[in-house]
Amino acid sequence: MTPRLEGREKVTGEARYAFDYPLDGVAYLAAVQAEAGRGEIVSVDAEAARGRPGVLAVLSCENAPRLASRSNGELAVFQTRTVSYRGQFVAAVVAETPETAREAARLLRVEYASEDPDVRLRDYHPGLYKPEIVNAGLPPDTEQGDPEAALKDSDVRVDVTYTTPAEHNNPMEPHTTTAHWSEDGTLTLYESTQGASTHQRTLARIFGLERERVRVVAPHVGGGFGAKGTPRPNSVLAAMAAREVGRPVKFAVPRQQMYATTGYRTPTVQRMRLGADADGRLNAIVHDVVEQTSTVREFVEQTAAPTRIMYRAPHRRTTHRVVRLDVPTPSWMRAPGETPGMYALESAMDELAVAAGIDPVELRVRNEPDREPESGLPFSSRNLVACLREGAERFGWADRDPAPRSRRAGRRLLGTGVAAATYPARLNPGRAAARAEPDGTFTVRIAAADIGTGARTALAVLAAETLKADVGRVRVDVGDSSLPAASVAGGSSGTASWGTAVVRACEALRDRLDGAVPPEGIEASADTAEEAGAREPYARHAFGAHFAEVEVDADTGEVRVPRMLGVFAAGRIVNPVTARSQLVGGMTMGIGMALMEESVMDGRFGDFLNRDLAQYHVPTCADVRRIDAVWLEESDPHLNPVGAKGIGEIGIVGAAAAIGNAVHHATGVRVRDLPITPGRLL
Ligand code: MOS
Repeated sequence: MTPRLEGREKVTGEARYAFDYPLDGVAYLAAVQAEAGRGEIVSVDAEAARGRPGVLAVLSCENAPRLASRSNGELAVFQTRTVSYRGQFVAAVVAETPETAREAARLLRVEYASEDPDVRLRDYHPGLYKPEIVNAGLPPDTEQGDPEAALKDSDVRVDVTYTTPAEHNNPMEPHTTTAHWSEDGTLTLYESTQGASTHQRTLARIFGLERERVRVVAPHVGGGFGAKGTPRPNSVLAAMAAREVGRPVKFAVPRQQMYATTGYRTPTVQRMRLGADADGRLNAIVHDVVEQTSTVREFVEQTAAPTRIMYRAPHRRTTHRVVRLDVPTPSWMRAPGETPGMYALESAMDELAVAAGIDPVELRVRNEPDREPESGLPFSSRNLVACLREGAERFGWADRDPAPRSRRAGRRLLGTGVAAATYPARLNPGRAAARAEPDGTFTVRIAAADIGTGARTALAVLAAETLKADVGRVRVDVGDSSLPAASVAGGSSGTASWGTAVVRACEALRDRLDGAVPPEGIEASADTAEEAGAREPYARHAFGAHFAEVEVDADTGEVRVPRMLGVFAAGRIVNPVTARSQLVGGMTMGIGMALMEESVMDGRFGDFLNRDLAQYHVPTCADVRRIDAVWLEESDPHLNPVGAKGIGEIGIVGAAAAIGNAVHHATGVRVRDLPITPGRLL
């Protein structure tokens, strides 16, 4: 077990985040958000703002420079007069101090020709359409057999609709950019990003620069969860402003402005239909999903994708439908797709267990497939049943009385619930370099991102192991696009993907090490494009099982989670201490999803009403009592040289369903609309 390498730097405040870089002559940006929900900007009156002492520039659609690429509507900042959603950035002030910039931003007068925005997701919305593909490049619909007839023929049926609200990642560090143009026209961005290489590519395209002319620096990132996985408008805005004023510019998106501008998890409406025989063997699974995107860019989550791989059933269908609304574009939030999708599937499985009178652990075991159900591919490894059994044993499931409202302690109703988890095991191509130094130490270089996950430490462990060196002799440089290019910290792919590149580079270095290291050192590098592209056809997924206990106050409807256990099978766990933290973090977000997180759209004017952490509730220490995350030893030869499947996201997948199922067990009330707030329970 290796403690987080940058832990000391972080707790002593030495670790530099994007806003912390001291640059000479730095100026500060404040942005103005659209007050119209849809329409056109008629005029921008900047006179009062420009007259403020200390104001360096005002930017808007009236004077902004033309960007070389405007294909991504979210990033085409100030390129048109069109307002696509309330809260969109429409103007910015650059000033000597942040206070001056904010004050001057308040003085801008923007006139709009506005129309009523259409912002309400309804499952019967007339604009619903079938997208070409959904996130991760998957087909929107799949169908096998005759699910409608099979549902009719089933002894036990569940036909229910769940809704999940929009949710926002709320990283501690806001989306932040410090942008600096050198005399030679090179752009440096100190950025809070999950991918220095991908951020570099996107910003280079937007500004029409060669890739080498953009450098993205992000050695420390204060959380992301997906929100920093793709560049956001703040980065373009800071870069544009820095070029305009000829000085470095800093812009940290205030939390109040974050809800409209940095992405969110789409709300969903999900109809789940399950049909089974009297023994609970599934005959049909139908999962129909409705979600939203914006008018500027299409983003569609793969919400029903996990339903394609979880349980055996001869007749099945999944569909995704989306509607373009006058809203910001949804984006990634921890396990985009799998999180809301598995909430619905695993809640419906619980409803089926109740309807059929079968234990919910046993029901899942009975529907275990021997191959991936829709593709027919063999699993590289699948240990869902082992996770369920191990969890049931550790949690004390055997003593459970399945009858709802069967346990009570004073005014508290007690219940327990279970749900399965899954997440794909991805391998993305990339590069790495490893170097032996003459002093006997090693340096590994890769443009990976450590967003608080412990990625740097895991890579050091892998390098040390491959080089047969003590981990204390290995230094790992990450978070800089000038390092060998790496994939984004997303899709729980980091340890597997970057780890493969690091292992290959270290193997190549090891082969070249014999005898003394010359003063200039010895370096070797690796590119895993071929290896990542040539994998054998297997279905690769991590699996897990969540067990939750809840206490529901019978008078107030308040739900507490005294105990939660997650058991995971995710291939090799490289560094237990940081891995546990990832899994517990995901499960904690599951508590938030189940009980409190909700971004509320203003149905009349547009934009989310949430403005801060007083209005967007996430679990705090008092909400989290005993959470245990454990894992099974799992050795899978079909993954990658690391043997890891990835653990960044699976902790949240299914967690909310386990809590919802426990609430039903405690109270007999099935809440199908998240979050399970007291008002929905009473
Ligand atoms: Mo994660 S939501 O794939 O960054």
